[in-house]
Amino acid sequence: MPAGGRRPWVEHWLETCRDLSELKASHPMMDAVIEEIDGRMIRIGEHWLADFASCNYLGFDLDREIIDAVPAYLDAWGTHPSWSRLLGSPVLYEQIEERLTDLLGTEDSLVLPTITHIHMSVIPLLAASGTIFLDARAHKTIYDGCQVARSRGAAVKRFRFEDPEHLDELLRAERDPTRLICMDGVNSMTGNAPDVRAFAAVAREHGALLYIDDAHGFGVIGERGPDETCGYGMRGNSVVRHFDESYDHVVLVGGFSKAYSSLLAFIACPTDVKDLLKVAAPPYLYSGPSPVASLATVLAGFDVNERRGDELRSVLCARTARVLDCLKRLGVHTPNTSGFPIVEVPLRDYRRIAEVGHVLFEHGVYVTLAAYPLVPKNEVGFRVQLTAANTDAEIDALIVALEHLASRGELRLSGDDPDWLGEAA
Ligand SMILES: Cc1ncc(COP(=O)(O)O)c(C=O)c1O
Repeated sequence: MPAGGRRPWVEHWLETCRDLSELKASHPMMDAVIEEIDGRMIRIGEHWLADFASCNYLGFDLDREIIDAVPAYLDAWGTHPSWSRLLGSPVLYEQIEERLTDLLGTEDSLVLPTITHIHMSVIPLLAASGTIFLDARAHKTIYDGCQVARSRGAAVKRFRFEDPEHLDELLRAERDPTRLICMDGVNSMTGNAPDVRAFAAVAREHGALLYIDDAHGFGVIGERGPDETCGYGMRGNSVVRHFDESYDHVVLVGGFSKAYSSLLAFIACPTDVKDLLKVAAPPYLYSGPSPVASLATVLAGFDVNERRGDELRSVLCARTARVLDCLKRLGVHTPNTSGFPIVEVPLRDYRRIAEVGHVLFEHGVYVTLAAYPLVPKNEVGFRVQLTAANTDAEIDALIVALEHLASRGELRLSGDDPDWLGEAA
């Protein structure tokens, strides 16, 4: 450590992330130590708060049937299969891949520990030295996967968010025959799904492969049908099925770490691609696997999803509707037009994020603060995520907090100019 201060490279990076690092250091709603939970209530120090930052959308983390299923798997397999997958995998992996393939209706699937592992290893393989067409607002982990691909010789071009026509224009002008399109399914900020039909049609027309990361949609949205209990559709089999699309020219990536409350992720792809990944994707060859408890909660989660998933989704949908109805009544803007359980609430003045966070905290409400530079200044705000395990009383508390913030003029209104950053900003 240099005398009297931090290392220069630490200073450099802290300066780059100054807003976020100040907020992290000073705010109770960031980098918190959660000392206890009770249902979806969490305790930080002396404060009990209703948790609206959890991605456990179906409440599987708290589901007694799933919790009770774990010990038998630990007895049979120990806590951790410490082989890389290439070396060998417990039969649980085969069972998961079979059930997943059936649920999604794909040709095949491969599971690896996280979506981040998949993006970093699979995007460079699929792109090779061709051209990637990257959604301008793709999740950071997709972007990073594309950066790895670029370092190995791929070109990267950005197309405008939610704009299949722009993608079409770029592809039309492209001479490179190897084309990969990378984008999100249900967006982790807006809570909306892309028009998968339009994007898949563009991909097929131009002989491109469409690679979709539906981290937030898998488990939550699924195929539509007359028996559906709500607009999320049935079975939670993700965004491609939700739009009644086929997997022709489409590769779907998703994770169990949100709706299924387990450390595992998947790529749904043709069998020849899966066979390739088994010898060419470094996480299959070298990474440690998911713990047995996670494999167990995935398998138990499939059972619960089959029997009670649609009921849980309809509870989730109704809880989310309460929050969206409240924002509508207050005239407060949210980009969420889908009714899916991610509700972003932008501020009128991006500099007020810390104060707004304190108000929420004092109202006993825990959310994700979306501060600059995590998001652009005109999108600074907070993100509310609903789960089937949130109670009506918790949503009442959230509504009181939203009403209070709206009455103080902290929240952007529906008619406000989205590029306005706040007075004298
Ligand atoms: C769209 C999206 N992709 C990927 C990830 C990362 O997933 P994992 O933890 O499985 O790497 C997230 C996490 O929030 C996400 O929102």
